[in-house]
Amino acid sequence: MEDSIEIILQDRSSKFFHRVQDKRAFTWVTGAVFCGFYGLWAMFCMPGFFKVPFRLKVPFLPSPKEQVSNVMNLLEGRKGLLADLGSGDGRLVFAASLAGFKCTGFEINSMLLAYSRGRAWWRGIPHADVRFVNQDFWKTDLSRYRNVTVFLAPAVMEVLEEKLQKELPEDARVVVCRFPFPRWPPTSTRGAGLEQVWAYDMRTVRESTSTSRIGTCHMSKLA
Ligand SMILES: C[S@@+](CC[C@H](N)C(=O)[O-])C[C@H]1O[C@@H](n2cnc3c(N)ncnc32)[C@H](O)[C@@H]1O
Repeated sequence: MEDSIEIILQDRSSKFFHRVQDKRAFTWVTGAVFCGFYGLWAMFCMPGFFKVPFRLKVPFLPSPKEQVSNVMNLLEGRKGLLADLGSGDGRLVFAASLAGFKCTGFEINSMLLAYSRGRAWWRGIPHADVRFVNQDFWKTDLSRYRNVTVFLAPAVMEVLEEKLQKELPEDARVVVCRFPFPRWPPTSTRGAGLEQVWAYDMRTVRESTSTSRIGTCHMSKLA
């Protein structure tokens, strides 16, 4: 009888220790997976994140395929130099280069830059057709670009309107993904929901903003 109680107790305690060990293993595995994901995210998203003022920060988020094809649709029939403001892993730049544009991708994240340069080299694309530059586009004069692609964040769109309106040539077209400009009138749009993109022609934008300014002046004189 004594023997059997001892055996039962031993059996219970060994089951208890097994359960504790299982839980520990589970915690370790979950922690390791979480750290792995965080490490990967930080490696790709953090470099360059502190180079721009807080209100202008935009994290990396790649364009979905549908969004890329909507952008290319709105650039059909156009030629010349194209700038992608925040080129990420380079997917918009590569699509535009396939369509015949001479592209520059501006990117401040060194990991993404290395990745997209590596992809360009691997595909054998000449430097004259595709360049990825480690440059903050807010500090860059964009006046030589007739085509500009933008996938950023709602908080920066109003500031970007002002910069592009000052710098871009009259025949430039800006194609914007997901977050439209708050004041500019779009010329056309493609897609819906998260993949929606808008095209803005600088001539139309300038005409509309000068008309609305004249309207405001007129109203203030009448008041
Ligand atoms: C939302 S992602 C878009 C990536 C890519 N254009 C695409 O459509 O897949 C925005 C990118 O802009 C970059 N970025 C943010 N601010 C920047 C700046 N001031 N100059 C250059 N790149 C910037 C970020 O590092 C990030 O990779």
